[in-house]
Amino acid sequence: MPSIKEILTKSANRLRKVARSPRKEASTLLAHSLHVSDIWLISHDDKIIEVPKDFEEFIKKREAEYPLEYIIQRTSFYGKDFYTDERVLIPRPETEILIDKVICTCKDLKSPTIAEIGTGSGIISIMLALLLPNAKIIATDISKDALEVAKINAKEQGVLEKIKFINCNLFDGVNQDIDVIVSNPPYIKKDEKLEKNLSYEPDLALFGGEKGDEILKQIIDIAIKKRVSILACEMGYDQKEKITNHLKNYNLKAEFYKDLAGIDRGFVINQKYKGAI
Ligand SMILES: C[S@@+](CC[C@H](N)C(=O)[O-])C[C@H]1O[C@@H](n2cnc3c(N)ncnc32)[C@H](O)[C@@H]1O
Repeated sequence: MPSIKEILTKSANRLRKVARSPRKEASTLLAHSLHVSDIWLISHDDKIIEVPKDFEEFIKKREAEYPLEYIIQRTSFYGKDFYTDERVLIPRPETEILIDKVICTCKDLKSPTIAEIGTGSGIISIMLALLLPNAKIIATDISKDALEVAKINAKEQGVLEKIKFINCNLFDGVNQDIDVIVSNPPYIKKDEKLEKNLSYEPDLALFGGEKGDEILKQIIDIAIKKRVSILACEMGYDQKEKITNHLKNYNLKAEFYKDLAGIDRGFVINQKYKGAI
């Protein structure tokens, strides 16, 4: 029988083609399979064990580019650990910037009502509930399945009572006054050829229409109709011009921001001193 060290070396070699940190992923998967911590594995790496059957399955799935986060059903986001499964988009690190933008823009509002459109795993609304304790938060999603995941996460983070979850298209039927709209909507165009790992994530979370920017534009239209003060959205790397042109119809300008890779990633429209967008 092999030692833990030998299992990890062999599995890391198998993951080399698909994983950025193959050794770390092999270790995370073995720890998950054995219900031990990564540190326990390191300190017991000479231990001889039988290769667990589910671990072999996990490695096979990863070789087929199935996301690690769906296997272990956890994702780290904004320094917290969230439940994740195939019903929702895996939270991306760049979405942390969107949260920072909202916090920064809202910090002088006393008790804003914030609406998130397309909450998915709930990470944005949950972080806002934690970081802006006086905010009232409404989170919508067209997917009932996604809302179930969001509620699991809200409960784990102790903010289930602070967020009103609504299953609807965009913001249909929600008649409350809103100060801030935030969204990381689906923004990929319908026929775009995606990397294989993305094919495991829900289509509803990825594709924003024929051109990709249709839902983003609808969200801008909702923000204007609702006369909100602040709109903050994530967007695709090639959508800055299209958003700018759409905003010209309303005589509005957005402040665009880039992600850590220097790629255009989102925008904020802040009209709080003018009353409304
Ligand atoms: C890109 S994911 C974002 C999930 C999460 N907010 C995040 O940042 O990780 C987009 C989410 O929007 C939801 N969605 C797609 N179309 C929608 C619509 N018309 N109305 C409401 N939600 C929608 C999807 O189900 C998905 O959960």
